[in-house]
Amino acid sequence: MADVLEVIGIEKKYPGVIANRNVSLHVAEGSIHSIIGENGAGKSTLMKILYGLVRPDAGHIKAFGKEVNLKSPQDAIQLGIGMVHQHFKLADNATVLENVILGSEPTRFGFVVKYDEARKKLQEIADNYGLDIDPDESLANLGVGERQRVEIAKVLFRGAKILILDEPTAVLVPQEVEELFANLRELVKKGLTVLFISHKLDEVLSIADDITIMRQGTTVASRKPKDTNKKELAELMVGGELPKPRAGALKVSEEKVLSFQGASYIRDDGRQILNDVNLDIHGGEILGLAGVEGNGQSELIELIMGLLKPSTGRVEVLGLDAATTLTKDIRNSGVAYIPQDRQRDGLLMTAPLWENRVLGHQFAEPLAKNIWVNKGAAVEDSKRVVEEFDVRTPGVNVLASALSGGNQQKFIVGRELSGDPKLIVAAQPTRGVDVGAQAIIWDHLMKARSAGAGVLLVSADLDELFSLSDRIAVIYNGSIVSVLNPSKTTPDALGLAMTGAKSA
Ligand SMILES: Nc1ncnc2c1ncn2[C@@H]1O[C@H](COP(=O)(O)OP(=O)(O)OP(=O)(O)O)[C@@H](O)[C@H]1O
Ligand SMILES: [Mg+2]
Repeated sequence: MADVLEVIGIEKKYPGVIANRNVSLHVAEGSIHSIIGENGAGKSTLMKILYGLVRPDAGHIKAFGKEVNLKSPQDAIQLGIGMVHQHFKLADNATVLENVILGSEPTRFGFVVKYDEARKKLQEIADNYGLDIDPDESLANLGVGERQRVEIAKVLFRGAKILILDEPTAVLVPQEVEELFANLRELVKKGLTVLFISHKLDEVLSIADDITIMRQGTTVASRKPKDTNKKELAELMVGGELPKPRAGALKVSEEKVLSFQGASYIRDDGRQILNDVNLDIHGGEILGLAGVEGNGQSELIELIMGLLKPSTGRVEVLGLDAATTLTKDIRNSGVAYIPQDRQRDGLLMTAPLWENRVLGHQFAEPLAKNIWVNKGAAVEDSKRVVEEFDVRTPGVNVLASALSGGNQQKFIVGRELSGDPKLIVAAQPTRGVDVGAQAIIWDHLMKARSAGAGVLLVSADLDELFSLSDRIAVIYNGSIVSVLNPSKTTPDALGLAMTGAKSA
């Protein structure tokens, strides 16, 4: 089939980094084309160039057979190139339809938006591509998977023929991934083209028609799924064999590092979010917490960190009552916290890396000097983190926002695992990191466990839960519905428990 998109010799430099060099890419019409590569390989940069968000230093782009000059996303949209953002840009206080219309050219709808016309068009798009959305639903009621469908509908509404999805599955649970894939297959059946980025090689092998591999800023190979496998793809990405996480023997200590004692949490609006949670974690073990997002996981973590107080019951963290202890004192007593939303809670995007090393640790040695921050120590220790966790960056003076998503995550994990924590609260610790970095992070969590730390691993990645957990607790609708032994259960059984189904 003809190429709808052709990229030749694209170059993009940032201070100290070549983000894209001599990139070439050929995308066939009506195909799902997957781009894979290590964190920092240049995937997002290339997608931003194709969407007009970033101007390349050199190179050519042909779309629909014609050379194009993309100066802005408006140019891209006009040409039929749309991008679904990973960090959704939707308004919570509006309906699906309002969100879809928001930002569309006023010339098409006049200054008074023609809602009926727009609703009809949106309904047609939904029906045509099998997108399950309700135009009049309020966005505030929608989960992550549904929000993503709204983003896709929004792009289609603006007439996109080429859809760019940068790590769309990172935020989805397995069932939602299946739904997304069904939608994507429908789109390409109707002649649209999808560019799809993911770090999950199983997904790529199952959904892609073509795979292009990037390494260190350039396109190094392309494959058809039927002619390759996970091992070869991983090796093409990293240029060598992958490290393997080592499982050590389980040595559980007497000490409870975390204890939920009949803890419930009722929100201000009266909704019961957590219901009589009883859970202990001892030093030396990893407890996985499985569940569909939005079943109380975030609030459970906030109770541990002293950000919320239980309505009834008690949460003890390293023997301290979390409800009456300041978050900074909880951290200082030996709690590491890897937050789920790295850009919101984990990093100051506009500050250099070394300042981000201090974030949340400004009151503890070695980074504190009386009431001041010890810059020298922060710089030195940032360099150590960069080295140990293989954070790809030109230095520790660059802004956090200049790092690729996966490298930001590696930096947070490295910072939090510094200084021998006794309890590690890890929410989606490997979200968005490549297979090599995932192995490094898994290895560090295993090492912390061997060193006697207790770990609460909250993850949507079943593979991760099975690879690391000594026990897996399942949360559903605010209650712990079961605690499973990973060696005696299957991913299917776990997936079923996560939906609230009672096991036979
Ligand atoms: N605005 C920027 N300023 C400076 N450097 C940048 C900027 N954007 C990206 N870079 C650098 O360009 C390189 C490529 O980054 P990019 O985001 O394209 O990687 P990626 O392949 O998408 O990685 P990931 O899998 O982690 O998302 C990285 O080294 C990154 O630090
Ligand atoms: Mg990226």
